Parts: sequence; structure tokens; C-alpha cells
Amino acid sequence: MAQTGGEFNPENIDRSKIDPSFLAVIRQREELKSKLSGIKHKIGVYSAKGGVGKTTTAVNLAYALSSMGFKVGILDADIDTPNVTYFVGYKGEPPRDYPLKPIEVGGVKIISTAMFFQDSGKPIIWRGPMLTKMLKEFFADTQWGELDYLIIDLPPGSSDSPLTIMQLIPLDGFVLVTTPQHIAAINTIKSGTMAKKFGLALLGVVENMSSGTPKGASEVAESLGCDVLGMIKADQRIADFSDEGKVAVLEDSRIKEAFIDIVKRLIS
Ligand SMILES: Nc1ncnc2c1ncn2[C@@H]1O[C@H](COP(=O)(O)OP(=O)(O)O)[C@@H](O)[C@H]1O
Ligand SMILES: [Mg+2]
Repeated sequence: MAQTGGEFNPENIDRSKIDPSFLAVIRQREELKSKLSGIKHKIGVYSAKGGVGKTTTAVNLAYALSSMGFKVGILDADIDTPNVTYFVGYKGEPPRDYPLKPIEVGGVKIISTAMFFQDSGKPIIWRGPMLTKMLKEFFADTQWGELDYLIIDLPPGSSDSPLTIMQLIPLDGFVLVTTPQHIAAINTIKSGTMAKKFGLALLGVVENMSSGTPKGASEVAESLGCDVLGMIKADQRIADFSDEGKVAVLEDSRIKEAFIDIVKRLIS
């Protein structure tokens, strides 16, 4: 069962007694809530640890959901090191429309900073305020249309982007990702604890690069009181598919089965 740190309800706040900067956050939250009202479910994929497979999980969960008939979008919240378009093999021209139109790859809508930078070898070197501005625009100004699920691929760390998302976006909750290693579990537990502090639900934890018996995921689930959603085995083909710009669940039936199992647990 999803665990939450307690519901935050802006309606219950006496606005005369609070700091104006906090009020601004509440106002932005309310605006974003109405702008995102065409999206039924918004799910973050997160761990503060880098390289555990957040993007792999986000992309494959999105395409698994899409293969089940849902209308799905992916928001790449890794603003300065965006990888989603690479993982799905997108090489098109930067979109010129404003408000932003997501690209569509294999039936899944995607928005990512990578779409706007033709030279993929060029680093995006932005300070926090610029990152946060771009991220807010992605949420506020993207023309998603009606979606059943928006999957948000978070960057590692617990600062600008994760913090902005937790403060402002009315999420259903987070799918945490860990690997079997203790250090990954420790960092993922911190991520879950942060989400709980914001009153956000933990929808469960995925163990990626698993040997087949849950290790890191059990540690995280036990510590945070959430479910293990499933395991994705360490499999060189998953890495190769990503590097070839192919989505694993669309290429391999065993990998698809593993992600569909996770999706079924997630949406139940
Ligand atoms: N189950 C797996 N087996 C083998 N390689 C994987 C697996 N999951 C992810 N990878 C590879 O590990 C690297 C890091 O994954 P990525 O999804 O980018 O992590 P993160 O988004 O957490 O930084 C990528 O090269 C990816 O293709
Ligand atoms: Mg990533």
C-alpha cells in the first residue's frame, strides 16, 4: 500500500499568518494543479542516487503503460543532463511552437531540454534558478492534451528539481528506484524520506540491475514502509537497447513482462 507522510491541503491554511514567499508557493501550486487537470495520474520516478536506472525505469514504465492502451507522457525533469530523448532514439528538429508541444515517439509524448539542443555534446550549464524556471515551464506550458499517465523522470540529488517538483506538483506519488547495493538503498531511503516530508505518497520501490532476489528494494521497502513493485535484472541488452535508442519493452518480451508486472502492481 502507498505510504504518505500526511496530506497537505492549501485550503486549510490561514493566509493572513504566513510568509509571502510561502504564499507564492501555494499560489503556484494551485495554478499548476489547474493547468495539469487534463492528466489523470502524475508519477515521479526517483532516487537521489545517480546511475541506478531512473531513466531506464521511467521510459520503460511509460511504454509498458502505453502498450496497455493508456495515453502516456514523459516529462524529463533532468533539465541539465537530459537522457530521455536519447533512450527513445529521437533525433528530430527542435520544436518551435510556444506553448510547448511535446514530441511524440511511438505513441508516447515527451518533453525534454534535449529537444532544444541540437548539439548533444554541448553541456547545459545553468544555475538552480534557471533550471527551476525551465522545469516549471515544462509543467505549466506543455500542451499535453488529455493523458492517463504523466511519468516524470527525476534527476539524482535532493536539491533544485526534486525540491521544486515536491513543492509544486500535485503528484500521485513516487516510484523509487534502487539497485541491490547498500549505498544505493541508503540514498534511496533518503529520497523516500524527503517525499514523505512533503506529504507525498511512496507508490513502491523497483530494484533495478537485480540478481533476482530483492536486496536493495527490501531494505528500502522495510525502512520506508512501502511495497516492492518488482525487479529488473541486470541485463546487458537493456544497456545496449538504450544506447541504440530502442525501448527495451518494445524489443524483448521477457523485459516487457517484468515491466508489465511492475505496472500492474503500480496501478492496482
Ligand atoms: N537492468 C539493467 N541492466 C543493465 N544496464 C542497465 C539496467 N538499467 C539501466 N542500465 C544502464 O545503466 C546506465 C544508467 O541507467 P539510467 O537509467 O541512465 O540511470 P539514472 O537515470 O538513474 O541515472 C545506462 O547506461 C542504462 O542503459
Ligand atoms: Mg536519468
